[in-house]
Amino acid sequence: MSKPIVRVENIVKVFKKANVRALDGVSLEFGAGIVYGLLGPNGAGKTTLIRVLTTLLRADSGYAEVAGVDVAADPTSARTHIGLAGQYAAVDEYLTGRENVEMVGRLYNLPAKEATKRADEVLHNIGLAEAADRTVRTYSGGMRRRLDLAASLVGRPQVLFLDEPTTGIDPQSRLGLWDIIRDLVAGGTTVLLTTQYLDEADQLANRIAVIDNGRLIAQGTGDELKDQMGGSVIELHVGDEVRDQAIEALTGLSTEAAAFDQYRGSLRLPAPDGSQTLLNVVRRLDERSIAVQDIALHKPTLDDVFLTLTGRGAAEAEAEAEKVTTSKRRGPRGRSN
Ligand SMILES: Nc1ncnc2c1ncn2[C@@H]1O[C@H](COP(=O)(O)OP(=O)(O)OP(=O)(O)O)[C@@H](O)[C@H]1O
Ligand SMILES: [Mg+2]
Repeated sequence: MSKPIVRVENIVKVFKKANVRALDGVSLEFGAGIVYGLLGPNGAGKTTLIRVLTTLLRADSGYAEVAGVDVAADPTSARTHIGLAGQYAAVDEYLTGRENVEMVGRLYNLPAKEATKRADEVLHNIGLAEAADRTVRTYSGGMRRRLDLAASLVGRPQVLFLDEPTTGIDPQSRLGLWDIIRDLVAGGTTVLLTTQYLDEADQLANRIAVIDNGRLIAQGTGDELKDQMGGSVIELHVGDEVRDQAIEALTGLSTEAAAFDQYRGSLRLPAPDGSQTLLNVVRRLDERSIAVQDIALHKPTLDDVFLTLTGRGAAEAEAEAEKVTTSKRRGPRGRSN
């Protein structure tokens, strides 16, 4: 790899009052011109890492560099290379879309004329030209996210940090945002994005890192992560009352124990030997007289990777908002309940 554009080494961040180890020795790096996807359940440390990289927060220890600049030693210089659209759109309700973007341009030290010109450009690119002179109060949630993204582009950043750019917006606007992100990357921008949507990571990210409890637990391309699951995955439904019995019965048949995906109500386990594992599973359950409602063998999805790694389905992790506040490690099987 050529010189990394983002380099993170052993970053630790503890929120002492809350007694939370938000980042527990994270290291990662990647080169320019890609989308790097950071996945993880609520409270994993994604936003904290973005805040460290964008100079909004100082790490307790470790080293972080963006575009060759040490973010702790030289935050002012680092900021000139960085764009950020946060998890919650940071826009002023009482200004128009254009005024919001111009204001950010001025913060980037653009002369007034240049700020106006640049605001026009980015608002056009992001599909907000027509709404540019309306106050943001009248904008929908999706428009606000786009405006926030527009503002983050004013300074022509080399590296763009997008914290859950599509959370809470409709599927149509999501696709529109994906196109905008793809265009930016085609134009040479490097993007680090966090997301709770695994299909988003699968579609957009050239590389993916999974973070949980402040630690990086996996890294690779989407395909590499899926390959780690060992070929195929078995997904099956059994009655709630026999679920634990079924998990027990399946012990030893696969490289991993069966994990329960609360959201889909299914049990999943890797099938290293494909249909042979499937046969063994059916036989084992039959021997124990555990009725199977349905069972299928399929290629692993990122969902399977996420479930296996974090012990929770992504949608489930999302529904868990606010709950995860301690950095207490879960058991080796990672089942939190
Ligand atoms: N300012 C703060 N003070 C105390 N604790 C904090 C603070 N910011 C974050 N935390 C805690 O640090 C941990 C990591 O939080 P962070 O916001 O980085 O997670 P996240 O992966 O972005 O989660 P989400 O998917 O919900 O956005 C959480 O346990 C959170 O409660
Ligand atoms: Mg976050």
